[in-house]
Amino acid sequence: MDEGLIKKIRRNMSLEEMVSLCSGRTDWETVGYSKYGIEPVFMADGPHGMRVIENEGALGIPQGKPATCFPPAVLSACSWDEGLLEFVGRTIALEARSMGVDLILGPGINIKRSPLCGRNFEYFSEDPLLSGRLGKSFILGAKDHGVGTTVKHYLANNQETRRMTVDEKIDIRALREIYLKPFEIAIKEGKPMAVMCSYNSINGKFVSQSNYFLTQLLRNEWGFDGIVMSDWGAVYDRVRGVFAGMDLEMPGNGGVNNQKIFDRIKEGKLKVTILNEMVERLIRFSFQARENRRNYVTDLEIEPKGHHKIAQLAAVESMVLLKNEECILPVDRTKIKKLAIIGSMAFDPRYQGSGSSKINPYHIDSPYERIKKLVGDEIQLFPHQGYIHDEVVEQIHLAEQAVEVAKNSEMALLFVGLPDHDESEGYDRTHLHLPQKQIALIRKICKAQPETVVIVQNGGVVDMSWEHQPKAIVEMFLGGQAGGDAIAKLLLGENNFCGKLAETIPMRLEDTPAYINFPGIHDEVVYGESIFVGYRYYDFTKKKVRFPFGFGLSYTHFSYEPIDEPELTIDAEKKVTVKCRITNAGVMNGKEIVQLYTGKSDTAILRPLRELRGFKKVFIPGGRSAEVSFEVGLSDFSYYNPTTKSWEHESGSHQIYIGSSSRDLPIVYPVQITKDLIHPINPLSYLSDFEKTERGQTILKLLLSGFEEIMGDDQTREDDFFMTMLANTPLRKLVEFSNGIFTEECIDKIIELVNSDQSLEGITFEKLVNCTEKKKGFFKSLFGGNEEEYYCIQSKVRDLVEDEDVMKILRNYFGDETFESDYLQMAIKMGICFDKAQKLLPDDFFSDEKLKDIDRDLKALAKLKKK
Ligand code: BGC
Repeated sequence: MDEGLIKKIRRNMSLEEMVSLCSGRTDWETVGYSKYGIEPVFMADGPHGMRVIENEGALGIPQGKPATCFPPAVLSACSWDEGLLEFVGRTIALEARSMGVDLILGPGINIKRSPLCGRNFEYFSEDPLLSGRLGKSFILGAKDHGVGTTVKHYLANNQETRRMTVDEKIDIRALREIYLKPFEIAIKEGKPMAVMCSYNSINGKFVSQSNYFLTQLLRNEWGFDGIVMSDWGAVYDRVRGVFAGMDLEMPGNGGVNNQKIFDRIKEGKLKVTILNEMVERLIRFSFQARENRRNYVTDLEIEPKGHHKIAQLAAVESMVLLKNEECILPVDRTKIKKLAIIGSMAFDPRYQGSGSSKINPYHIDSPYERIKKLVGDEIQLFPHQGYIHDEVVEQIHLAEQAVEVAKNSEMALLFVGLPDHDESEGYDRTHLHLPQKQIALIRKICKAQPETVVIVQNGGVVDMSWEHQPKAIVEMFLGGQAGGDAIAKLLLGENNFCGKLAETIPMRLEDTPAYINFPGIHDEVVYGESIFVGYRYYDFTKKKVRFPFGFGLSYTHFSYEPIDEPELTIDAEKKVTVKCRITNAGVMNGKEIVQLYTGKSDTAILRPLRELRGFKKVFIPGGRSAEVSFEVGLSDFSYYNPTTKSWEHESGSHQIYIGSSSRDLPIVYPVQITKDLIHPINPLSYLSDFEKTERGQTILKLLLSGFEEIMGDDQTREDDFFMTMLANTPLRKLVEFSNGIFTEECIDKIIELVNSDQSLEGITFEKLVNCTEKKKGFFKSLFGGNEEEYYCIQSKVRDLVEDEDVMKILRNYFGDETFESDYLQMAIKMGICFDKAQKLLPDDFFSDEKLKDIDRDLKALAKLKKK
């Protein structure tokens, strides 16, 4: 890209022209200026197929041009196949090219925080690695035809309830490890052309106005060089958006907000240099699209039949066999001659979700038609509707007829699932149940016909408390336009099942990690479960689950064998290779998804028991074996330290687990991490932090022996207690708490000694402290404090609110809503000091000024009490 030319063009543009680039020209197109060679960029939705709006359809709902409907992410994720996602991305891009689309509005890689999210069908997984890698593959595939992608919805768009206004309270560790991670992977490795910022706000700030998320992280830390566009209508304060790095407002809004940018620049309140950078990015974006248009053929003839086959392949690779008692599946064509096919979804399948991703498919395969075609005259089929998607109409007669049909057959295939209106973009579910009529039908059919298979079509997981009733269960999820053909081939054994769950199926809604915090209250939702999302939560809390993350059966079975390495150690940049042998112990060819997790059983920090760090899908012919290897490095053991704000690892022994699901991990390799993590000590480090380095340990020993000496006789019985308290005291606090024994200079000296490589020879306790006079009752003053110190903003919120006099003061500054708020409860529970609490709260709770005034009043109270 000619950067000089881009700058030159920008310099030649008037302010009006520059500003006009900052929002779309229409719903799907950016502004162009032919005189500068800036061509409009065309975009369309397309996580699982192209939705190029052509006309106003029935009821005024826009209709897309016909396009291939691939399986939505909920299903394609179950393939765990990066190559497949790349293939799908490439094929969708081909259709995009042929329709004149430069930029696909997808993939959607948000984390499935709760199964209730109405839009889960558009997202891949509850796991960040799987989501990020599949997203990356889609991006790379689309690039093969010179089509750009837009990773969305950045960030943490995990619910539809009040999605445009909700403020999410998420701790930084959960953000880094769970919600940012898939974006980090997809953006760093896939380098998409655009990122779409979400509607919601996080910790008090709309993402579309957050410089931290849009510039500091995205561009500065991850090196993203594309444009950031808003989700449709996600702009609130456009000028703040400019400060944050939000380049393009979508859709076009007639320039209302552009005028604001213009005015602020004219008033001198917004630096034109910020706009310059933005405009340069937008020109670069347009040039990139233009270059792609020139370099890749656009007048392609799409071959719908070929693409249908690719959609079918994607569905076959992804559908999940959850249960198969007595190997009832595949349908044995030599024995079964009368087969009942029941349920309206066998004839009229649900194959995609509602909302902006809904496309107009070329063709839809019905499972019934495809089964009929495959079995020909071999098996007699007995079709019955069983139910209709209508909770009002009495349907007993339908159920009764279906039971008769099942009874008179030798086997029944019962198709159930969520009706279209149960889940969609725009709203969330409130429960996980299938419609009551379908649940009743499952019971009745399974009773009448023991040889029953239940096949479920759904965009979000459903409660399967009826699991024990049928002999087999298949998760079809949403199969795309060729899902009917795929399920027919799988049920009849023409293909083998090889998909595995990309999300846990819980026992019940109440077991899910976000249960008490979804969808929040009014405009606020607290991510109380933090990093414990999906299997991270179920494993940690030892919850029974219906079907675990990563689980899926096959018509064959695989056994796992370790290939021992003498000793696995990881130091610094070194990576180790771990191997295992997988044997297809059956006769049918099959594919196995081998999963690698890491964990640390003796961890000193709060972390999940195991986390997915690698996966591979391998084809193994019946009776044969394959060797599978993974490279594992330091980052596969890391966690995000919220205090140091960096990725860190624990040294010592860790475990690498390999197996077929998150709960079936037969191979465990111990691995030693020899690279020590050195945490430099700072004034806010705890004395216990000294333990982490050798120098720290030496100095700590010295300090402790000194403390013991000055503790005096009266402390003996409570020594351990005081020592523990001391270990949990920040270094800097010794200044206030030690009655003058430690000064700030002493603390600086100690820090320097621990962090540097100065010789420690000859250092004694006396040399470290200011006053060597031995004081009895030192610890009393250390922890008991005196009244004056107690009445101050450095005291804990929980202590302050206990005191009626303090409350009188606080009531002058805060209303009842503050005292009743979750924040206060959180601050009390967490034992946070009053002055620190301010940093955790949104700005409008209390300002620095207010804090000063409160401190002044508290000190006055202390004086009064002293008298
Ligand atoms: C959705 C986006 C979509 C956009 C354009 C929004 O409502 O959240 O995912 O790309 O509409 O259709």
